[in-house]
Amino acid sequence: MERSPAGRRVLDADGHRTSADRPNDYHWWKHGVIYQIYPRSFADGSGDGTGDLQGIVSRLPYLADLGVDGLWLSPIFDSPMHDFGYDVRDYCAIHPLFGRLADFDELVDRAHGLGIRIILDLVFNHTSAEHPWFLESRSSKVSPKRDWYLWHTGRRFLGLPWRTCRRPPNNWRSGFGGSAWRLDERTDEYYLHLFLDSQPDLNWRNPDTEAAMFDQARFWLDRGADGFRLDVINYIVKDLRLRNNPYHPRLTFPRLHDQQLHLYDRNQPEAHEIVRRFRAVMDGHPETMLVGEVYPNEGCMEPEASASYLGSGNDELHLAFDFSLMETPFNARGYRKTLERWYAAVPREGWPSHVLSNHDKPRAMTRRCRGSFARARLLATLLLTQRGTPFLYYGEEIGMRDGRLRRHALRDPTGRKYWPFFSGRDRSRTPMQWTPGPNAGFCRADAKPWLPLNTDHSGRGDGRRGVNVESQREAPGSLLSWYRRLIEARRAHLELTHGSIEFVDSHRKLLVYTREYEERRVIVMLNFSRRRRSPPDGVLVAGARILLSTHGSLTEPRADAPLEPYEARVVSI
Ligand code: NOJ
Repeated sequence: MERSPAGRRVLDADGHRTSADRPNDYHWWKHGVIYQIYPRSFADGSGDGTGDLQGIVSRLPYLADLGVDGLWLSPIFDSPMHDFGYDVRDYCAIHPLFGRLADFDELVDRAHGLGIRIILDLVFNHTSAEHPWFLESRSSKVSPKRDWYLWHTGRRFLGLPWRTCRRPPNNWRSGFGGSAWRLDERTDEYYLHLFLDSQPDLNWRNPDTEAAMFDQARFWLDRGADGFRLDVINYIVKDLRLRNNPYHPRLTFPRLHDQQLHLYDRNQPEAHEIVRRFRAVMDGHPETMLVGEVYPNEGCMEPEASASYLGSGNDELHLAFDFSLMETPFNARGYRKTLERWYAAVPREGWPSHVLSNHDKPRAMTRRCRGSFARARLLATLLLTQRGTPFLYYGEEIGMRDGRLRRHALRDPTGRKYWPFFSGRDRSRTPMQWTPGPNAGFCRADAKPWLPLNTDHSGRGDGRRGVNVESQREAPGSLLSWYRRLIEARRAHLELTHGSIEFVDSHRKLLVYTREYEERRVIVMLNFSRRRRSPPDGVLVAGARILLSTHGSLTEPRADAPLEPYEARVVSI
C-alpha cells in the first residue's frame, strides 16, 4: 500500500488544517502531539458496547479538531483477551471485536487524509499461549520452535527427591503475581512468563524469533502504519545464567514482584542490539517511528534506563517513555527536579517525550489533581510546553477521572486477583465520555458498555459543565478548550516545539522556564499554590505579552502581574 503523505500541515486563517509547509526539520513524532486510544473504550461503532476501529474512524474529525498528530492504539490484534490484547494470538489479524483489516485500511486512509499518523502497539516480549508459535513450541522438546520460548527443567530443592521437591529455575516473579515459571505437564518443563501464564515469554536470543517478529511488523508498515509502541521493550532479553533477582523491600503494592530489583529479568545489553536492528528496519520506511515502554522497578524513577534505549540518539528508539513524571507529586520543585533529570539523561542527539497518564496507571486527574480542573489546566500546560513529544491519554483533555468500579464489574486480571488491596487497571480504562446523554454517547443507549461509565459524564465537571466532549467543546473556559489552545500555540510558536528549555529560579511554589528558538522566546509560568505569587525578577522584559493564561479574564493583561492561584501563563517576548 502506498504511504499517504500525512504530516506537514498548519492552520489557515480560519483555524483549519492545510498542507502548507512546516519547517524542513519538522517531524510529526517529534514536534507533534500524540494521543493514546484504548480501543475498547474510545467509541463503539458496531453497537456491541465495546469500542472498535469504526468507532475511531467516526471520531477522527474530533481528533483533528483537537489538533493531535498521531494516534497510538493499544493492541487491536487477534487475542484471547486474557490481558485485553497484550496477549497476541495472531499479529497480522485484527480481533473481530475491533473490526477487520478493511477497517484498519480505512482508518489509515482517513487519518492520513487529516494529517494524523497511526501507531500500533507491538508486543515483543511475549505472545499468547494460543499463538501457533507457542502451540508448536510446547508440543514437544524436539519441536523446531521449542527454542522460540524459554524452557527449563527446573531445579532440585535441598537435594530432596526430584518429583516431590522440584522448584522453578529461579526466584523471578510474574508482574501479575506468583512465580514467573509455570510447569507444563506435556513436556515436563517450565516455561517463563513475566506476566500471565497465558503470556509465555519469547526467546529473543534465537535469530529465527527475531526474524519472524520483524516480519509481523513489516506487514503493518506495508499497510500504512506509521510507527509502533513497543510493549515492555526492556524485558525482551533475560540473563543467560538465569540468576536470582536480589530482594529490595519497599513500601509498595504487596506483590513479591515489587520487592525485587529486576537486575536479571530486564535491561540486558542484548536488548539494545535487537532494538538497533529493528530501528534499521524502520529506517527503511521514511517518517516512521518507534516509541518504547521502558518499565522501571515499581515506584522508582529510572530516567537513565529509559534514555539508554534512545542509544546514541538516532540508532535505537526514536522515543522512550519515562514514567518519572507520573510518579512525581504535584509540586513545582518536584516537577523541576524530575524534568531536569530526564533532560540530562536524554542523549544530545536524542529527543525526550512526556506522559502523565496511560492505561496501566491511575489517571493524573485523580492521582495528582484530585479532581480539580484548575490543577488539570496546570498539568496540561506543563505537558504541552515541555521540550519533547507530549502523549495524551484519551479523556485527559476533558478531565476524565478514574472510575469507581465494584468488584463484580472488574475485568482486569490484576484487579480480579488482588481486590480489595488493589482494584487493578480498569478504573483508568472506562469508556470515553462524548455526551451528557445515555452511555455518554460511547455506545448506543440500548447497549451495555464493556466497563461501567463514570457518572460524572452527565453531572457537573469543573463546577459549570459535565465531563464530556459535547459540553466542553463550545465552552471557551473548559478544559478541552484549554487543551486546544495549547496545541494551537505549539503550532504557531516554534519556540514551543523546537526551542531549547531553561528553568528559571523562582519562588518554590512556581515552576518557570523559558523556551527559545532563533531569537524568539516564550516564558512559561506555573503557579502550583493556592496563593497569588509574583513572577521571578528579571525574566520579563518590557514588551512581554501574554499568549495564554488560564485566568485570562481575571488577571490584568500585564505579563508581569502576580500569578493567580493555580494560574498557568505563557508569555511571549
Ligand atoms: C505493558 C502494558 O502496558 C500492559 O497493559 C500489559 O498488561 C503488559 N505490558 C503486558 O503486556
